[in-house]
Amino acid sequence: MHDKIIVIDFGSQYSQLIVRKIRELGVYSELIAFGRFSQLDSSVRGVVLSGSPFSVHDPDHPTVQLEKIIDKVPMLGICYGAQYITQYFGGQVERSDKREYGRAYLQIKSHSELFQGLRDGEQVWMSHSDHIQQLPQGFKVTAQTQSIPVAAFENAERKIFALQFHPEVYHTIHGKDILSNFVKNICGAKDTWQPQSFITTTIDWIRQQVGQDRVILAISGGVDSTVAAFLLSRAIGNQLTAIFVDTGLLRYKEYETVLEKYRSLGLNVLGVDAKQEFYSALSGVTDPEQKRKIIGHKFIEVFEQQASKIKDARWLAQGTIYPDVIESAVGHYAAQTIKSHHNVGGLPERMNLKVIEPLRLLFKDEVRRVGQALGIPEQFINRHPFPGPGLAIRIIGEVTPQKVSLLQKVDHIFIQELQKNGLYDKVWQAFAVLLPVQTVGVMGDERTYESVVALRAVNSVDGMTADWSHLPHDFLSRVSSRIINEVRGVNRVVYDISSKPPATIEWE
Ligand code: XMP
Repeated sequence: MHDKIIVIDFGSQYSQLIVRKIRELGVYSELIAFGRFSQLDSSVRGVVLSGSPFSVHDPDHPTVQLEKIIDKVPMLGICYGAQYITQYFGGQVERSDKREYGRAYLQIKSHSELFQGLRDGEQVWMSHSDHIQQLPQGFKVTAQTQSIPVAAFENAERKIFALQFHPEVYHTIHGKDILSNFVKNICGAKDTWQPQSFITTTIDWIRQQVGQDRVILAISGGVDSTVAAFLLSRAIGNQLTAIFVDTGLLRYKEYETVLEKYRSLGLNVLGVDAKQEFYSALSGVTDPEQKRKIIGHKFIEVFEQQASKIKDARWLAQGTIYPDVIESAVGHYAAQTIKSHHNVGGLPERMNLKVIEPLRLLFKDEVRRVGQALGIPEQFINRHPFPGPGLAIRIIGEVTPQKVSLLQKVDHIFIQELQKNGLYDKVWQAFAVLLPVQTVGVMGDERTYESVVALRAVNSVDGMTADWSHLPHDFLSRVSSRIINEVRGVNRVVYDISSKPPATIEWE
């Protein structure tokens, strides 16, 4: 079992980031919504209290039973966490409607183990309105800034530490050192959270869970399902059957090349050509949400048909990752909702299958690192995200096999050029969209009246917000002329320069 640091989530937008930063130090960390915390287990070496959109003066502010933590393991309060500690021990938090947001410079007032290796004047990042006016008894100020008298304080004997600023964000230049001082020096947590040890323990766990049973898994060519497949395959070999469905809505020749690659890497994979089924189901449909529903249902139907042919299948594996299962403290209440878009409908119940999710503890970047450690080729690891409904939501209006084929060619040229010019890894997601618009053009001496395609490339961290990628003009120009010259039926290419919000990444 790994030493563990738990982060109690009071609803801050940065809570997950704290967990990720601690894990980057090689120490295992978990997020727990404040309402879900009951007690420490024996692997917990320390606790972090997150920030919050609430004030400790709000009548319904989030709380946690600190007596279950204090004097048992070290504790670090961040922002609201620091104010909560202040109030708990009888200090004073001053209410304010003004927000201090942005850079500040830390003046270290007295020695703290938390600031070991840091110099005076470090840049830190503030994001708070209330501030700490008076410390509780037994605590001392360890740092201030120009605008606030208490930027950090502690009771070193009782191992209680608090920061008004955010060590987890990028703009706190040495924030990672502060977290490392807390996690490794003060809590003494061991840095055993490494891809290789994750792989070893997860393989053992899979074998124990599954025994001699058969497992099925839907794979898409995307990073999560691919890493899940190879991890399972390492653990149980051909007891795993991975099912790869050609929806007819994948990228250019993707089905053939990915299937071939999976096989050459020794994966027991069943390819299913269901193109016609998807095209018939989509015939005449133009509404985007309707398309999504139809594709989702069809996928379940096709998968279920194939799965029922695999005798003795007892388990359904899924590539669910940690952000899908975190129960965050959104708003005031510990949210009950767990995203279910990875679940293949009600299939586990209908087929009486047990669910196994070998990646459910990992963030996306950790999935990639595990994938690399498993020796999975880069082509799978650094792939742009691709939506489940595929090209259907990039063909505005009705989907036909002819339109799919045209869009595949356009998209292929764009992606190929991005790769050739070293730009593929610099954008987060890139694709082409086929518009239901025809425009006049001229080719040779002939007037043309053909389709318009839009190119979209965005930079993003998680797809929640995004900016359009500022691709070089000469690059766009080359892509545009290749598309118009090589793809019959297209005479105009436009580039999407909208950010999200207010636009979205996909056009439908
Ligand atoms: P939007 O268009 O909402 O896209 O800004 C954000 C990210 O989500 C992907 N996306 C989807 N993925 N099923 C999926 O599996 C969908 O229906 C879907 N719609 C959007 C999109 O590609 C982007 O990465």
